[in-house]
Amino acid sequence: MANDCAQTPPGGLAIRIQQLVKRHGDREILRGIQLDIQPGHTVALIGPSGGGKTTLLRCLNGLEPFDGGSVAVGENTLHSGDRRPLEIARIRQTVGMIFQDFQLFPHLSVLENVTAAPIWVQGENPQAARERALQLLERVKLADFSNRRPSQLSGGQKQRVAIARALALRPRGLLCDEITSALDPETKHEVLGVLEDLKRDGLTVVMVTHEIGFARRAADRVVLLADGTVAEEGTAGDVIDSPKTERASRFLARVLG
Ligand SMILES: Nc1ncnc2c1ncn2[C@@H]1O[C@H](COP(=O)(O)OP(=O)(O)OP(=O)(O)O)[C@@H](O)[C@H]1O
Ligand SMILES: [Mg+2]
Repeated sequence: MANDCAQTPPGGLAIRIQQLVKRHGDREILRGIQLDIQPGHTVALIGPSGGGKTTLLRCLNGLEPFDGGSVAVGENTLHSGDRRPLEIARIRQTVGMIFQDFQLFPHLSVLENVTAAPIWVQGENPQAARERALQLLERVKLADFSNRRPSQLSGGQKQRVAIARALALRPRGLLCDEITSALDPETKHEVLGVLEDLKRDGLTVVMVTHEIGFARRAADRVVLLADGTVAEEGTAGDVIDSPKTERASRFLARVLG
């Protein structure tokens, strides 16, 4: 098992979001989101600040309880007001989440960052976990960095370690929240290149991003979330080039300059 190539298992997962409502106090942050994501699709989630993108991702992997509707991630479903720890744990085994600020373990080497969860959480054989981690580090072009600490890496390198770490758990999907926002343009391309490469594994990727170029190039679907609702959903051509709503047009005019 451990000597399979540095790829994730085949078969991305379907995500079905139905009438998802999330409130903070009196404010409705997500207002009845309805969205189907096909297995193996890369979805770019774009939209103005405060529109609910991060909240939506957090609802998908059980980090955030919600107030109405349901979220089905592969075979597991979360319902509002129903925090089932086993269901949440299964979803987190199925989808990895990667954040803007990497969240690497500072006291561990790059290699140990990638092997920690497989060994300590999933009980994988340490030698097998190390071999697979090295393959994954090679895949994200960090084979020579396995003994470094995160503090000795650039931002783009840290983010690639975070991707390798997520892949080490053999997810069928990845949720990425603005993972290139803190990086300079050249480094952004390295990280986006790694993500584009994951498409060939059939992984389902939901990516909050401001990179309209990436959305055009790599996203099967683009979802524009504004004021807690899906303002537009479609191909990049549909959403970016011919938005139908005034809200989407206004946002795109601003980001496209
Ligand atoms: N813990 C919280 N308590 C109260 N309000 C919150 C909380 N978390 C988020 N919000 C509010 O929910 C709304 C959506 O926030 P969210 O972080 O999902 O937006 P976003 O689309 O990811 O924005 P950005 O592009 O700036 O990251 C915002 O108005 C935010 O202030
Ligand atoms: Mg956000």
